[in-house]
Amino acid sequence: MRDLSMIAAALAERKPGHSLPQLLYNSPEAFEFDLEAIFGQSWILAGFACEIPRPRGYLALTIGRSPVVITRDRDGAFRAFFNSCRHRGAQVCPDGPGGKARLTCPYHQWVYGLDGRLVHAQSMQPSFRSDDHGLRPIHVEEVAGALFVSLAETPPAFERFRAELEPLLAPHRLNEAKLAHQNTLVEKGNWKLVMENARECYHCAVGHPELALTFPINEAKGGQFAKEGDPRHAAFDARLAAAGLAKGPFLGPWWQVERFPLKEGQVSLTMDGRPAVTKLMIDGDNADVGSLRWAIEPHSFCHSTSDTTVYFSAMPTATGETVVTCKWLVHQDAVEGVDYDVERLTALWNITNQQDRDLVELNQRGVNSLGYAPGPYCEDSESYVIRFVDWYCDQAEAFIAARSGTGTGTGIDRRPQAVHPVPAAVEAPFAAAPTGMGMALAFAGEAAAAAAAEQWPDAS
Ligand code: FES
Ligand SMILES: [Fe+2]
Repeated sequence: MRDLSMIAAALAERKPGHSLPQLLYNSPEAFEFDLEAIFGQSWILAGFACEIPRPRGYLALTIGRSPVVITRDRDGAFRAFFNSCRHRGAQVCPDGPGGKARLTCPYHQWVYGLDGRLVHAQSMQPSFRSDDHGLRPIHVEEVAGALFVSLAETPPAFERFRAELEPLLAPHRLNEAKLAHQNTLVEKGNWKLVMENARECYHCAVGHPELALTFPINEAKGGQFAKEGDPRHAAFDARLAAAGLAKGPFLGPWWQVERFPLKEGQVSLTMDGRPAVTKLMIDGDNADVGSLRWAIEPHSFCHSTSDTTVYFSAMPTATGETVVTCKWLVHQDAVEGVDYDVERLTALWNITNQQDRDLVELNQRGVNSLGYAPGPYCEDSESYVIRFVDWYCDQAEAFIAARSGTGTGTGIDRRPQAVHPVPAAVEAPFAAAPTGMGMALAFAGEAAAAAAAEQWPDAS
């Protein structure tokens, strides 16, 4: 078993409200630990149902260093597997989408069905049993066209997340979407620095002048939009009501879901604030409905505006390297060159991601210094960073405790508490979830709810 004492010591020395000890950002031990304890135990937003548009297809991706594949069989149901051949372990499908009815390992041509069963293995001895050598299944869930997978034997409870995300996301009709574009960016920084950067907008006014046109960077402080009687907030609520769109917010242990208004007069997160796609993804013709931000720990956030959904995923590939994948979904009937232009659709997030890459890389260089010492987060503008690192430390401590048989971690839930009532039907199973995996969520008293309502989603 891996020696976890070094990670445990770093977690023990961390100061709450401060950036993490250096070792957690730049050691090979922390990288290996994070793949197993964080990426191996969480739900990962793997992609979208529209990326496997027809029955008999698949979408393959790599989580950390584990290739996985999501398949869609003739019945349309999704299944997911470790994408490692049961012969000698080769990766069966290349990463990306595919449209085959069978998955054939390129090494010695073992053949699997989309249900994971091994259907052909040439020349094997009579004692060989195909039934014992199907692809190893992993957990998969679909929510309103978004596909989540988990490598964990027992993943975090999912149903409350589904109940909170689905009604807000469903009007964006991701099941009627298509992938308009995707790209990747290699960042020379630890994945946690990428995600800390993605969870705050403290840097946005200077770091992202283009994003600052549309994103409510300065107004985002102190929950200005949440104030009762704010005429802009009331007007936003009225537009949402007319469009039949719910707002949230929902803050769960590993997710945040909230619809918020863009800057006054701005309709989409584009370079000029105008929609990038004329064929909207939502019903109706009022495009001015802000953005639904849905963010998933450990690795992702999405912005769903009226015209597009933008997906951001940070995947660790080495101690000091993270690959950011960005995807843009548009309505399936939108025609490129007629209803949208890829350059215009992608320009804002491309430049924002490149700016963020530069910030992450200079962050990593400074963190590597002999002179680095953890510094204090801004409790207002970096509240979602605090939430992220608290979640990370909770997960890490719980994992170490479970492995060492010493209990279930600190048991301290440092996150902001739930700010939205949870339907009784979904509260019970969530409440029964194991607390040791950071799943404890105390339903808020009035004071905690008021404090959490002051939180505001950051740029990304
Ligand atoms: S490793 Fe796949 S067939 Fe040999
Ligand atoms: Fe940024």
